[in-house]
Amino acid sequence: MIDIHSHILPGLDDGPQSMAEALQMCRIASADGIRTIVATPHYNPGSFGWSASSLQASLTALQKAVRAAGLDLTLLPGAETPLFPELSALLMKNDTFLTINRGIYFLVEFRPHAVPANAEPFLKSLISAGLVPVIAHPERCTWFMHHPEMLSRLARMGALLQLTAGSILGHFGPEARNFCQYLITGGVAHVIASDAHDCSERSPMLSEAVSMVADQVGRESALGMVTTTPAAIIAGRRLQLPAAVRIHNSEPYPVWTRSWMERLLGAWA
Ligand SMILES: [Fe+2]
Repeated sequence: MIDIHSHILPGLDDGPQSMAEALQMCRIASADGIRTIVATPHYNPGSFGWSASSLQASLTALQKAVRAAGLDLTLLPGAETPLFPELSALLMKNDTFLTINRGIYFLVEFRPHAVPANAEPFLKSLISAGLVPVIAHPERCTWFMHHPEMLSRLARMGALLQLTAGSILGHFGPEARNFCQYLITGGVAHVIASDAHDCSERSPMLSEAVSMVADQVGRESALGMVTTTPAAIIAGRRLQLPAAVRIHNSEPYPVWTRSWMERLLGAWA
């Protein structure tokens, strides 16, 4: 399996803070059957503003430790970015360090409850320029729950949607879990990734989520979301997406939100 979204490099963002913890994350990933991990530390000029050279140095050091530990695991460079004014110029640079494995795909994240007003034309302009946005965990953004048609439009333009394994399993609550199911059965979810940050609460594992998705759409489709599709992403190869995205004309998504009492009691289904 290939994991295209993880915070596994020590000290660059809110992922592991030591090489020992990062290596332990690699052991967990390897034991789960993951053979390739794209390290995607948060990049944001206002908070996590690491440089290309610091990313490469960290990646090289962890890869060396992984080999020394005898693990069959390859680490590749990447980043996870929000939309910000300079992003377009940074992605267009010949030596950009913000795409996945220096290719045409880039991982973009949104805040939990809001999407910038210009998000759609901004992403459309990048797609027109030959880049492919991979939208990180849309299932955790409540704005998308109220506007799933925007995800459908972006997918029709060529964007990919990445669901997080923990969301599929219900670790982020019933809203995210139910929205995952809606996107998966609607044919608009393309990749499953771990979005790992540590060895416990948010660990680098995919297999359990793949089994759950296999129950919904079949084993071949579920496995494709952690094998063939991410293989094309890391190779920088364009994918032929299905012509129809079924959620586009479907009924409005029935957003379910917890009542104040459920929140008080922590009633997670
Ligand atoms: Fe992430």
